[in-house]
Amino acid sequence: MENRMKRKVLVVDDELGPREALRMILGEDYDVSVASGGLEARDNFLNKEYDLMIMDIKMPDINGIDLLTEVKTKSPETEVIMITAYASVDTATDALRMGALDYIIKPFDTSSVLEAVQKGLSRRDDSLSIKTRLQELQIANKVLEERIDDAFKNIQSHFQETVDSLVEAVDAKDSYTKGHLKRMSKFALLLGKEANLSQEELGLIQHAAVLHDIGKIGVPEAILLKKDTLSREEFEIIKKHPVIGARIISPVQSFKEVVPLVLYHHERFDGTGYPDGLKGNRIPLGARIIGIADAIDAMLTERPYARAKTVDEVRKELQQFAGIQFDPQLVKIIISKDLLALYTFQ
Ligand SMILES: [Fe+2]
Repeated sequence: MENRMKRKVLVVDDELGPREALRMILGEDYDVSVASGGLEARDNFLNKEYDLMIMDIKMPDINGIDLLTEVKTKSPETEVIMITAYASVDTATDALRMGALDYIIKPFDTSSVLEAVQKGLSRRDDSLSIKTRLQELQIANKVLEERIDDAFKNIQSHFQETVDSLVEAVDAKDSYTKGHLKRMSKFALLLGKEANLSQEELGLIQHAAVLHDIGKIGVPEAILLKKDTLSREEFEIIKKHPVIGARIISPVQSFKEVVPLVLYHHERFDGTGYPDGLKGNRIPLGARIIGIADAIDAMLTERPYARAKTVDEVRKELQQFAGIQFDPQLVKIIISKDLLALYTFQ
């Protein structure tokens, strides 16, 4: 029982005298094995786990410094004490640099051997407990990372649900929007890609595209669904939807950068749009993209008050209103890359 608890010490020395002396000094307190040279130690002992090794520096087959390097590579936590004669203290200092804990000088006395061994074993205990603690921390860290990952996925899915339910709310009022939102967000993304927007900007476009008319929740259905021409007052109420939309989404932190795109999707390039009459490049590029995609889809779709235009007619309209309603650069991209040919009608 007691023997099982003893720490394992390996003594490597080619000289019988010091080897047996060490076995005697340490044998009572430790589980001591001995090897009569570097080769024997390498063949029979280095694959076993020792708490501490004591090795002679000068041995005929493998010298102690090389053996030390092998031990430290295989099991860095095994403590090594070197034995040296007065003549080779320089080599002993080298050994310390290579990871040995200490050296004892021949002829050695019992107390300095015991002291060195105790010091070595307590350093080993320290480094083992640090290693264990580090492993525990790594495990804890991994668990935390997984939790963060889950939480993030959760937030993303809640966020998507929020977007979906907002879009649903507009659909409930104005059923025309459903296919419209899908088609125009596809086209806005296509146009954004052709205009070399970053992935992040494209993400904003995607959200802005589905949310741009969210403010219509605040417009009375009698006006929203009216088939006859709107009165001036009614049109003024309709014109509030970008501001209402921006107000609805602005408390949501993740929508922060989507707000200007929603707010300015009805601005016109010549400054005659609403709500602020922004002109040209002062209108955020994302809002210009949403605006043109919105208009194209409206033209290509049949309305209660107008038949659907053909792709050719839309192309002409875009060119005619480039620089007036639409950003001429975007019109140029749409025409030169023939993006209308890729328009999906579903
Ligand atoms: Fe709108």
